[in-house]
Amino acid sequence: MPGQLPSPSPMYLLALETTCDETAAAVVSDRMEVVSSVVASQDELHGRFGGVVPEIASRAHLERIVPVIDEALRRAELTLDDLDAVAVANTPGLAGSLLVGLAAAKAICVAKGIPLIAVNHLQAHIYACRLAASADVFPCVGLIVSGGHSSLYRCGGPLDFELLGATIDDAAGEAFDKVAMMLGLPYPGGPAIQLAARRGDPAAHSFPRAFLNDDDCLDFSFSGLKTAVRYQITGPGKTDFAKIDLEPQRVADLAAGFQEAVVDCLAGKAFAALKTTGLKILCVGGGVAANARLRQRLEEEAARHNVQLHVAPIPLCTDNAAMGAIAVERLRAGLVEDLDLDVSPGVGRKTK
Ligand code: KG4
Ligand code: ZN
Repeated sequence: MPGQLPSPSPMYLLALETTCDETAAAVVSDRMEVVSSVVASQDELHGRFGGVVPEIASRAHLERIVPVIDEALRRAELTLDDLDAVAVANTPGLAGSLLVGLAAAKAICVAKGIPLIAVNHLQAHIYACRLAASADVFPCVGLIVSGGHSSLYRCGGPLDFELLGATIDDAAGEAFDKVAMMLGLPYPGGPAIQLAARRGDPAAHSFPRAFLNDDDCLDFSFSGLKTAVRYQITGPGKTDFAKIDLEPQRVADLAAGFQEAVVDCLAGKAFAALKTTGLKILCVGGGVAANARLRQRLEEEAARHNVQLHVAPIPLCTDNAAMGAIAVERLRAGLVEDLDLDVSPGVGRKTK
């Protein structure tokens, strides 16, 4: 238009995600547009083991990372020369898997002379809500529920995360996967349990809800619940369920009862965290956030407590690289990394 300055062209970031068993690459712009997003799942490789085998995961990442990056660039109609930075999730996750993404990111940064940005995978899961909302969601309580993590954060801003509580044993998704195996359901267990639970009675079994009545505790524990399901199948104190053939209705009832107990704990602690912090916005991300019963329950509770709820859209719940758009915030703040950046596989713990 006459008299109007041309808008500066956007900056493009390539984001890589290889923390667990998804090989993912996305191109995002500094205007928070997801220009392309490619996810190569490894579910078929790990399914027969009932969980992720780290060595298989890292080898599969090695085979897939270059084609996945190529595809993300092709769909974005860009080349490596158009990139302004590369972002990579370097924590937390499986060491061998993280290394593949980090090595690929460094190689591109060296070859093209562009900055490297570190992404915390858990923070990125919360940022998926910001990305989907296309609006500020901070300050908020962040609930991350995935195969490896169940954590609550006080999120003051996109660069300010304080751990409030976390699981002391199994992650919620891990419990879904292990209970699915006990029930003879396929991997990943979450979607399979959700499906089976639709025909089940959640009140048919009374399963434990750890710490639920203690509002001062913002931690989770799912290992007792998992054992309670196991004893329902095998009888108390017995552990061998491999040869037990369960009636479909019993599978459905156990799935529904287990799912309801997990949902009670996740929703209960998320709203306890809102009460403790005085915050009125809740953001939820991670694979388990795809669970329909959890989403329904969070919506009900949010309406009752007058809380603004953001649950990541389903494609942004499970691992993906688009949520690596949190790197745009780091780039704006000048938080770029040296090329000796390492992986940090460990889970964040609360410091007392
Ligand atoms: O976030 P994610 O893709 O990977 C990790 O960072 O761990 O989460 C994977 C987990 C698996 O444990 C899977 O069973 C669970 O998310 N999951 C679900 C559902 N869809 C995926 N859990 C419950 N209900 C679902 N619909
Ligand atoms: Zn994840």
